[in-house]
Amino acid sequence: MKQEFISIQKALKQGKGKVSLRGWVYRIRKGKDKIFIILRDTSDIIQCVFSQEKFKKQWNAIDKILIESSIKIKGTIKQDKRAVTGYEIQVEEFEIISYAEDFPIGKDQSQELLLDKRHLWIRSRRMQAILKIRSTVFGAIHEYFRSKEFYEFQSPIITSGAAESGPTKFTVDYFGKKVFLTQTWQFYAEAAIYALEKIYTIAPSFRAEESKTSRHLTEYWHAEAEVAWTNLDELIDIAENLVKYVITKVLKENKKELAILGRDINKLEPSTKKKFPRITYANALKLLKDKKKINIKWGKDLRTIEEEKIMELYDTPIFVTNYPKDCMAFYKPRSKKNRKTAECFDCLLPEGNGELIGGSERDISIEEIKKSLKFWKEKIEDYEFYMEPLHYGAIPHAGFGLGIERFIKWICGLDNIKDAIAFPRTMTRYSP
Ligand code: 4AD
Ligand code: MG
Repeated sequence: MKQEFISIQKALKQGKGKVSLRGWVYRIRKGKDKIFIILRDTSDIIQCVFSQEKFKKQWNAIDKILIESSIKIKGTIKQDKRAVTGYEIQVEEFEIISYAEDFPIGKDQSQELLLDKRHLWIRSRRMQAILKIRSTVFGAIHEYFRSKEFYEFQSPIITSGAAESGPTKFTVDYFGKKVFLTQTWQFYAEAAIYALEKIYTIAPSFRAEESKTSRHLTEYWHAEAEVAWTNLDELIDIAENLVKYVITKVLKENKKELAILGRDINKLEPSTKKKFPRITYANALKLLKDKKKINIKWGKDLRTIEEEKIMELYDTPIFVTNYPKDCMAFYKPRSKKNRKTAECFDCLLPEGNGELIGGSERDISIEEIKKSLKFWKEKIEDYEFYMEPLHYGAIPHAGFGLGIERFIKWICGLDNIKDAIAFPRTMTRYSP
Protein backbone atom coordinates (compact mmCIF):
# COMPACT_ATOMS: atom_id res chain seq x y z
CA MET A 1 0.00 0.00 0.00
CA LYS A 2 1.55 3.26 -1.12
CA GLN A 3 -0.26 6.25 0.30
CA GLU A 4 -0.14 8.99 2.87
CA PHE A 5 -1.39 7.97 6.26
CA ILE A 6 -3.30 10.44 8.37
CA SER A 7 -4.40 10.27 12.00
CA ILE A 8 -7.88 9.07 12.87
CA GLN A 9 -8.59 12.50 14.31
CA LYS A 10 -7.74 14.09 10.96
CA ALA A 11 -9.86 11.54 9.12
CA LEU A 12 -12.83 12.33 11.38
CA LYS A 13 -12.36 16.01 10.60
CA GLN A 14 -12.15 15.31 6.88
CA GLY A 15 -15.42 13.38 7.17
CA LYS A 16 -15.71 12.25 3.56
CA GLY A 17 -13.66 10.84 0.68
CA LYS A 18 -10.68 8.51 0.75
CA VAL A 19 -8.49 8.05 3.81
CA SER A 20 -5.54 5.84 4.71
CA LEU A 21 -5.06 4.96 8.35
CA ARG A 22 -2.84 2.73 10.44
CA GLY A 23 -3.15 1.58 14.00
CA TRP A 24 -4.28 -1.21 16.26
CA VAL A 25 -7.50 -3.13 16.54
CA TYR A 26 -9.42 -1.81 19.51
CA ARG A 27 -12.66 -3.81 19.27
CA ILE A 28 -14.14 -6.40 16.90
CA ARG A 29 -17.74 -7.25 16.16
CA LYS A 30 -18.71 -9.94 13.70
CA GLY A 31 -21.90 -9.80 11.60
CA LYS A 32 -23.22 -12.31 9.09
CA ASP A 33 -21.17 -11.11 6.14
CA LYS A 34 -19.37 -8.17 7.66
CA ILE A 35 -16.66 -7.66 10.26
CA PHE A 36 -16.64 -4.36 12.13
CA ILE A 37 -13.25 -3.37 13.44
CA ILE A 38 -12.79 -0.36 15.66
CA LEU A 39 -9.35 0.92 14.82
CA ARG A 40 -7.35 3.02 17.26
CA ASP A 41 -4.31 5.20 16.97
CA THR A 42 -3.10 7.67 19.52
CA SER A 43 -5.49 10.33 18.28
CA ASP A 44 -8.89 8.57 18.37
CA ILE A 45 -10.93 5.49 17.41
CA ILE A 46 -13.07 4.78 14.33
CA GLN A 47 -15.26 2.00 13.00
CA CYS A 48 -14.00 0.22 9.88
CA VAL A 49 -16.21 -2.17 7.92
CA PHE A 50 -14.81 -5.18 6.10
CA SER A 51 -17.39 -6.83 3.83
CA GLN A 52 -17.12 -10.46 2.81
CA GLU A 53 -18.32 -9.68 -0.67
CA LYS A 54 -15.37 -7.36 -1.25
CA PHE A 55 -12.74 -9.55 0.41
CA LYS A 56 -13.85 -13.08 -0.51
CA LYS A 57 -10.31 -14.39 -0.96
CA GLN A 58 -8.88 -12.71 2.12
CA TRP A 59 -11.82 -13.48 4.40
CA ASN A 60 -9.94 -16.05 6.47
CA ALA A 61 -7.10 -13.62 7.06
CA ILE A 62 -9.57 -10.97 8.28
CA ASP A 63 -11.52 -13.41 10.39
CA LYS A 64 -8.31 -14.31 12.29
CA ILE A 65 -7.66 -10.72 13.42
CA LEU A 66 -7.65 -10.34 17.20
CA ILE A 67 -7.66 -7.24 19.37
CA GLU A 68 -4.35 -5.26 19.26
CA SER A 69 -3.34 -6.60 15.86
CA SER A 70 -1.66 -3.83 13.86
CA ILE A 71 -3.14 -3.01 10.46
CA LYS A 72 -3.16 -0.46 7.68
CA ILE A 73 -6.37 0.32 5.83
CA LYS A 74 -7.56 2.47 2.96
CA GLY A 75 -11.21 3.25 2.37
CA THR A 76 -14.00 5.78 2.14
CA ILE A 77 -15.14 7.61 5.24
CA LYS A 78 -18.69 8.79 5.76
CA GLN A 79 -20.89 9.96 8.57
CA ASP A 80 -22.78 7.24 10.45
CA LYS A 81 -24.57 8.24 13.62
CA ARG A 82 -24.54 4.64 14.95
CA ALA A 83 -20.74 4.30 14.85
CA VAL A 84 -18.74 5.05 18.04
CA THR A 85 -17.23 8.31 16.88
CA GLY A 86 -19.98 9.18 14.41
CA TYR A 87 -18.15 8.07 11.26
CA GLU A 88 -17.50 4.80 9.49
CA ILE A 89 -14.98 3.66 6.90
CA GLN A 90 -15.78 1.18 4.13
CA VAL A 91 -12.48 -0.63 3.80
CA GLU A 92 -11.24 -1.00 0.23
CA GLU A 93 -7.65 -2.13 0.83
CA PHE A 94 -5.89 -3.42 3.91
CA GLU A 95 -2.59 -4.83 5.10
CA ILE A 96 -2.06 -6.79 8.28
CA ILE A 97 1.24 -5.74 9.84
CA SER A 98 1.23 -8.10 12.85
CA TYR A 99 -1.37 -10.50 14.12
CA ALA A 100 -1.86 -10.17 17.87
CA GLU A 101 -2.17 -13.15 20.18
CA ASP A 102 -5.06 -13.30 22.65
CA PHE A 103 -4.69 -10.03 24.60
CA PRO A 104 -4.23 -10.88 28.30
CA ILE A 105 -6.25 -7.91 29.56
CA GLY A 106 -10.02 -8.11 29.35
CA LYS A 107 -12.84 -6.18 30.99
CA ASP A 108 -12.98 -5.53 34.76
CA GLN A 109 -9.50 -6.72 35.66
CA SER A 110 -8.06 -6.27 39.13
CA GLN A 111 -5.79 -3.29 39.81
CA GLU A 112 -2.94 -5.70 40.52
CA LEU A 113 -3.23 -7.40 37.15
CA LEU A 114 -3.32 -4.03 35.40
CA LEU A 115 -0.11 -3.11 37.23
CA ASP A 116 1.56 -6.46 36.44
CA LYS A 117 0.66 -5.95 32.80
CA ARG A 118 1.40 -2.25 32.79
CA HIS A 119 3.57 -2.55 29.68
CA LEU A 120 0.37 -3.54 27.86
CA TRP A 121 -2.17 -1.57 29.89
CA ILE A 122 -0.54 1.76 28.93
CA ARG A 123 -2.30 1.23 25.57
CA SER A 124 -5.71 1.59 27.22
CA ARG A 125 -7.72 4.70 26.43
CA ARG A 126 -7.62 5.58 30.10
CA MET A 127 -3.83 5.40 30.43
CA GLN A 128 -3.42 7.16 27.08
CA ALA A 129 -5.56 10.02 28.35
CA ILE A 130 -3.61 10.28 31.60
CA LEU A 131 -0.25 10.15 29.83
CA LYS A 132 -1.30 12.89 27.43
CA ILE A 133 -2.39 15.10 30.32
CA ARG A 134 0.91 14.28 32.02
CA SER A 135 2.74 15.46 28.92
CA THR A 136 0.79 18.73 28.98
CA VAL A 137 1.62 19.19 32.67
CA PHE A 138 5.37 18.70 32.13
CA GLY A 139 5.35 21.03 29.13
CA ALA A 140 3.38 23.67 30.99
CA ILE A 141 5.75 23.64 33.98
CA HIS A 142 8.70 24.26 31.66
CA GLU A 143 6.78 26.98 29.83
CA TYR A 144 5.76 28.74 33.00
CA PHE A 145 9.25 28.93 34.48
CA ARG A 146 10.93 29.81 31.22
CA SER A 147 8.40 32.58 30.55
CA LYS A 148 9.36 34.02 33.96
CA GLU A 149 13.06 33.97 33.06
CA PHE A 150 14.05 31.03 35.21
CA TYR A 151 17.04 28.94 34.16
CA GLU A 152 16.68 25.17 34.15
CA PHE A 153 19.32 23.69 36.44
CA GLN A 154 20.12 20.02 37.16
CA SER A 155 21.47 18.44 40.33
CA PRO A 156 22.93 14.93 40.82
CA ILE A 157 20.73 11.92 41.55
CA ILE A 158 23.50 10.18 43.50
CA THR A 159 24.26 12.12 46.67
CA SER A 160 26.54 11.76 49.64
CA GLY A 161 24.30 12.50 52.58
CA ALA A 162 22.45 15.80 52.86
CA ALA A 163 18.76 15.00 52.93
CA GLU A 164 15.24 16.31 53.24
CA SER A 165 14.44 13.63 55.79
CA GLY A 166 17.11 11.23 57.07
CA PRO A 167 15.15 8.01 57.59
CA THR A 168 13.67 7.95 54.10
CA LYS A 169 16.86 7.77 52.05
CA PHE A 170 17.53 4.97 49.58
CA THR A 171 21.06 3.68 49.89
CA VAL A 172 23.17 2.65 46.93
CA ASP A 173 26.38 0.65 46.99
CA TYR A 174 28.90 2.99 45.36
CA PHE A 175 32.13 1.03 44.86
CA GLY A 176 31.86 -0.28 48.40
CA LYS A 177 30.77 3.06 49.90
CA LYS A 178 27.25 3.90 51.02
CA VAL A 179 25.66 6.76 49.05
CA PHE A 180 22.07 7.84 48.55
CA LEU A 181 19.46 8.59 45.90
CA THR A 182 18.39 12.22 45.95
CA GLN A 183 15.21 13.28 47.76
CA THR A 184 15.39 16.86 46.56
CA TRP A 185 17.40 19.14 44.30
CA GLN A 186 17.27 21.89 46.85
CA PHE A 187 20.70 21.73 48.48
CA TYR A 188 22.47 22.05 45.13
CA ALA A 189 19.97 24.63 43.93
CA GLU A 190 20.75 26.82 46.92
CA ALA A 191 24.40 26.89 45.83
CA ALA A 192 23.40 27.58 42.22
CA ILE A 193 21.28 30.67 42.87
CA TYR A 194 24.53 32.54 43.49
CA ALA A 195 25.26 31.91 39.82
CA LEU A 196 21.81 31.88 38.17
CA GLU A 197 19.48 33.60 40.69
CA LYS A 198 16.17 32.10 39.48
CA ILE A 199 16.21 28.39 38.71
CA TYR A 200 13.93 25.38 38.38
CA THR A 201 14.12 21.70 37.63
CA ILE A 202 11.93 18.74 36.80
CA ALA A 203 13.63 15.57 37.99
CA PRO A 204 12.97 12.31 39.81
CA SER A 205 13.16 12.29 43.60
CA PHE A 206 13.33 9.17 45.73
CA ARG A 207 11.75 8.47 49.09
CA ALA A 208 12.13 5.21 50.98
CA GLU A 209 8.91 5.92 52.81
CA GLU A 210 7.22 2.90 54.28
CA SER A 211 3.82 4.26 53.51
CA LYS A 212 1.34 2.35 51.43
CA THR A 213 -1.05 5.16 50.67
CA SER A 214 -2.81 6.36 47.54
CA ARG A 215 -0.44 9.35 47.34
CA HIS A 216 3.07 8.00 47.97
CA LEU A 217 5.51 6.72 45.40
CA THR A 218 9.10 5.77 46.13
CA GLU A 219 10.19 7.38 42.85
CA TYR A 220 8.32 10.51 41.84
CA TRP A 221 8.87 13.52 39.59
CA HIS A 222 9.62 16.68 41.43
CA ALA A 223 9.27 20.20 40.03
CA GLU A 224 11.40 22.47 42.18
CA ALA A 225 12.18 26.16 42.13
CA GLU A 226 14.74 28.25 44.00
CA VAL A 227 14.69 32.03 43.87
CA ALA A 228 17.23 34.64 44.95
CA TRP A 229 16.25 37.92 46.63
CA THR A 230 12.73 36.86 47.57
CA ASN A 231 10.49 36.16 50.54
CA LEU A 232 7.66 33.83 51.49
CA ASP A 233 4.81 35.93 50.05
CA GLU A 234 6.49 36.37 46.69
CA LEU A 235 7.38 32.69 46.61
CA ILE A 236 3.75 31.74 47.21
CA ASP A 237 2.74 34.03 44.33
CA ILE A 238 5.06 32.06 42.05
CA ALA A 239 3.69 28.72 43.27
CA GLU A 240 0.08 29.88 42.88
CA ASN A 241 0.65 31.20 39.37
CA LEU A 242 2.42 28.00 38.38
CA VAL A 243 -0.51 25.86 39.53
CA LYS A 244 -3.00 28.16 37.78
CA TYR A 245 -0.96 28.15 34.58
CA VAL A 246 -0.79 24.36 34.43
CA ILE A 247 -4.50 23.82 35.15
CA THR A 248 -5.51 26.45 32.59
CA LYS A 249 -3.30 24.78 30.00
CA VAL A 250 -4.74 21.30 30.68
CA LEU A 251 -8.31 22.63 30.51
CA LYS A 252 -7.48 24.19 27.17
CA GLU A 253 -5.57 21.31 25.60
CA ASN A 254 -7.00 18.16 27.17
CA LYS A 255 -10.79 18.51 27.18
CA LYS A 256 -11.10 15.24 25.30
CA GLU A 257 -8.82 13.35 27.70
CA LEU A 258 -10.59 14.75 30.76
CA ALA A 259 -13.87 13.58 29.24
CA ILE A 260 -12.47 10.07 28.63
CA LEU A 261 -11.50 10.01 32.32
CA GLY A 262 -14.95 11.24 33.32
CA ARG A 263 -13.33 14.14 35.19
CA ASP A 264 -15.75 16.81 36.35
CA ILE A 265 -14.02 19.97 35.15
CA ASN A 266 -16.14 22.09 37.46
CA LYS A 267 -13.78 20.84 40.18
CA LEU A 268 -10.81 22.40 38.38
CA GLU A 269 -12.25 25.58 36.94
CA PRO A 270 -12.44 27.59 40.21
CA SER A 271 -8.65 27.20 40.50
CA THR A 272 -8.07 29.03 37.23
CA LYS A 273 -9.87 32.14 38.47
CA LYS A 274 -10.05 32.43 42.25
CA LYS A 275 -7.17 33.48 44.42
CA PHE A 276 -6.00 30.55 46.56
CA PRO A 277 -6.62 31.29 50.25
CA ARG A 278 -3.58 31.72 52.50
CA ILE A 279 -4.01 30.78 56.14
CA THR A 280 -1.55 30.26 58.94
CA TYR A 281 -1.09 26.97 60.74
CA ALA A 282 -2.62 28.62 63.81
CA ASN A 283 -5.69 29.55 61.75
CA ALA A 284 -5.86 26.03 60.39
CA LEU A 285 -6.03 24.68 63.96
CA LYS A 286 -8.80 27.15 64.70
CA LEU A 287 -10.76 26.10 61.61
CA LEU A 288 -10.40 22.46 62.61
CA LYS A 289 -11.71 23.24 66.06
CA ASP A 290 -14.57 25.54 65.05
CA LYS A 291 -15.77 23.90 61.85
CA LYS A 292 -14.75 20.26 62.25
CA LYS A 293 -14.73 19.72 66.03
CA ILE A 294 -11.14 18.45 65.87
CA ASN A 295 -8.73 19.53 68.58
CA ILE A 296 -5.07 19.58 67.65
CA LYS A 297 -2.46 20.72 70.13
CA TRP A 298 -0.31 23.59 68.88
CA GLY A 299 3.07 22.17 67.81
CA LYS A 300 1.86 18.99 66.11
CA ASP A 301 2.33 18.69 62.37
CA LEU A 302 -0.92 18.29 60.45
CA ARG A 303 -1.65 14.72 59.47
CA THR A 304 -3.33 13.61 56.28
CA ILE A 305 -6.70 13.28 57.97
CA GLU A 306 -6.54 16.83 59.30
CA GLU A 307 -5.44 18.20 55.94
CA GLU A 308 -8.40 16.47 54.35
CA LYS A 309 -10.83 17.91 56.90
CA ILE A 310 -9.54 21.45 56.29
CA MET A 311 -9.78 20.99 52.54
CA GLU A 312 -13.46 20.07 52.80
CA LEU A 313 -13.91 23.80 53.37
CA TYR A 314 -12.31 24.84 50.04
CA ASP A 315 -12.76 24.29 46.30
CA THR A 316 -9.27 25.47 45.29
CA PRO A 317 -5.81 24.67 46.62
CA ILE A 318 -4.85 26.66 49.72
CA PHE A 319 -1.58 27.69 51.31
CA VAL A 320 -0.98 26.94 54.97
CA THR A 321 1.92 28.99 56.31
CA ASN A 322 4.02 29.26 59.44
CA TYR A 323 4.07 25.73 60.80
CA PRO A 324 5.79 25.13 64.15
CA LYS A 325 9.56 25.37 63.64
CA ASP A 326 10.25 22.19 65.61
CA CYS A 327 8.39 19.92 63.21
CA MET A 328 9.94 21.46 60.09
CA ALA A 329 13.05 20.60 58.06
CA PHE A 330 16.27 22.22 59.37
CA TYR A 331 16.57 24.80 56.58
CA LYS A 332 13.24 26.53 57.25
CA PRO A 333 14.06 29.71 59.21
CA ARG A 334 12.32 30.98 62.30
CA SER A 335 9.73 33.61 61.54
CA LYS A 336 10.60 37.07 62.84
CA LYS A 337 6.97 37.68 63.84
CA ASN A 338 6.53 34.47 65.79
CA ARG A 339 9.75 32.76 66.86
CA LYS A 340 7.96 29.44 67.45
CA THR A 341 6.99 29.18 63.78
CA ALA A 342 8.95 28.78 60.57
CA GLU A 343 8.70 30.97 57.46
CA CYS A 344 7.29 28.17 55.33
CA PHE A 345 4.20 26.92 53.53
CA ASP A 346 2.45 23.79 52.34
CA CYS A 347 0.02 23.96 49.44
CA LEU A 348 -2.89 21.58 50.02
CA LEU A 349 -5.19 20.21 47.35
CA PRO A 350 -8.97 19.86 47.48
CA GLU A 351 -10.91 16.58 47.13
CA GLY A 352 -8.76 14.66 49.60
CA ASN A 353 -5.58 14.91 47.59
CA GLY A 354 -3.33 16.21 50.35
CA GLU A 355 -0.08 18.13 50.05
CA LEU A 356 0.98 19.28 46.58
CA ILE A 357 3.83 21.66 47.39
CA GLY A 358 6.21 22.27 50.26
CA GLY A 359 8.25 25.46 50.32
CA SER A 360 9.97 28.00 52.50
CA GLU A 361 12.39 30.83 52.91
CA ARG A 362 15.85 29.43 53.61
CA ASP A 363 17.79 29.99 56.77
CA ILE A 364 20.97 31.91 55.98
CA SER A 365 22.30 31.96 59.54
CA ILE A 366 24.94 29.24 59.80
CA GLU A 367 24.58 29.24 63.55
CA GLU A 368 20.82 28.61 63.34
CA ILE A 369 21.28 25.93 60.69
CA LYS A 370 23.77 24.09 62.89
CA LYS A 371 21.39 24.30 65.83
CA SER A 372 18.59 22.77 63.75
CA LEU A 373 20.82 20.04 62.34
CA LYS A 374 21.80 19.10 65.88
CA PHE A 375 18.13 19.13 66.89
CA TRP A 376 17.44 16.61 64.09
CA LYS A 377 20.55 14.57 64.98
CA GLU A 378 22.04 15.07 61.51
CA LYS A 379 25.78 14.88 60.82
CA ILE A 380 27.04 18.45 60.45
CA GLU A 381 29.85 17.33 58.11
CA ASP A 382 27.27 16.08 55.55
CA TYR A 383 26.11 19.69 55.24
CA GLU A 384 29.44 21.52 54.96
CA PHE A 385 28.95 22.03 51.21
CA TYR A 386 25.47 23.34 51.93
CA MET A 387 26.65 25.94 54.42
CA GLU A 388 29.86 27.09 52.72
CA PRO A 389 28.17 29.32 50.08
CA LEU A 390 26.68 31.30 52.95
CA HIS A 391 30.19 32.55 53.83
CA TYR A 392 30.38 34.34 50.49
CA GLY A 393 27.65 36.89 50.02
CA ALA A 394 24.64 35.12 51.52
CA ILE A 395 21.32 36.60 50.42
CA PRO A 396 17.66 36.00 51.29
CA HIS A 397 16.20 33.28 49.09
CA ALA A 398 13.36 30.80 49.06
CA GLY A 399 12.12 27.80 47.12
CA PHE A 400 9.59 25.04 46.81
CA GLY A 401 9.01 21.53 45.51
CA LEU A 402 5.87 20.25 43.81
CA GLY A 403 5.04 16.55 43.47
CA ILE A 404 4.00 16.19 39.83
CA GLU A 405 2.16 12.87 40.23
CA ARG A 406 0.09 14.34 43.06
CA PHE A 407 -0.78 17.22 40.76
CA ILE A 408 -1.76 14.82 37.95
CA LYS A 409 -3.76 12.68 40.38
CA TRP A 410 -5.86 15.67 41.29
CA ILE A 411 -6.18 17.09 37.76
CA CYS A 412 -7.30 13.71 36.41
CA GLY A 413 -9.40 12.83 39.46
CA LEU A 414 -7.55 9.54 40.03
CA ASP A 415 -8.12 7.28 43.04
CA ASN A 416 -4.47 6.32 43.23
CA ILE A 417 -1.19 8.09 42.47
CA LYS A 418 0.07 4.93 40.76
CA ASP A 419 -2.04 5.78 37.72
CA ALA A 420 -0.40 9.19 37.41
CA ILE A 421 2.83 7.64 36.11
CA ALA A 422 3.44 4.99 33.44
CA PHE A 423 5.51 2.57 35.52
CA PRO A 424 4.94 3.31 39.21
CA ARG A 425 7.41 2.49 41.97
CA THR A 426 6.11 1.87 45.47
CA MET A 427 7.23 -0.11 48.51
CA THR A 428 5.92 -3.31 46.97
CA ARG A 429 6.13 -2.57 43.26
CA TYR A 430 9.32 -2.21 41.28
CA SER A 431 8.46 -4.09 38.09
CA PRO A 432 7.64 -4.00 35.22
O1 4AD B 1 7.58 18.53 51.10
P1 4AD B 1 8.77 17.91 50.46
O2 4AD B 1 9.44 16.79 51.17
O3 4AD B 1 9.78 19.12 50.23
C1 4AD B 1 11.02 19.03 49.71
O4 4AD B 1 11.56 18.04 49.29
C2 4AD B 1 11.70 20.37 49.56
N1 4AD B 1 13.15 20.17 49.62
C3 4AD B 1 11.28 20.98 48.27
C4 4AD B 1 11.92 22.30 48.01
O5 4AD B 1 11.70 23.22 48.78
N2 4AD B 1 12.68 22.42 46.96
O6 4AD B 1 8.41 17.41 49.02
C5 4AD B 1 7.84 18.30 48.08
C6 4AD B 1 6.65 17.67 47.41
C7 4AD B 1 5.49 17.34 48.35
O7 4AD B 1 4.70 18.44 48.62
C8 4AD B 1 4.74 16.26 47.56
O8 4AD B 1 3.89 16.83 46.60
C9 4AD B 1 5.88 15.57 46.83
O9 4AD B 1 7.00 16.41 46.84
N3 4AD B 1 6.19 14.30 47.48
C10 4AD B 1 5.82 13.09 47.03
N4 4AD B 1 5.12 12.73 45.95
C11 4AD B 1 4.91 11.41 45.74
N5 4AD B 1 5.37 10.44 46.57
C12 4AD B 1 6.09 10.76 47.68
N6 4AD B 1 6.56 9.79 48.47
C13 4AD B 1 6.34 12.13 47.93
N7 4AD B 1 7.01 12.81 48.91
C14 4AD B 1 6.91 14.12 48.61
MG1 MG C 1 6.27 18.40 52.72
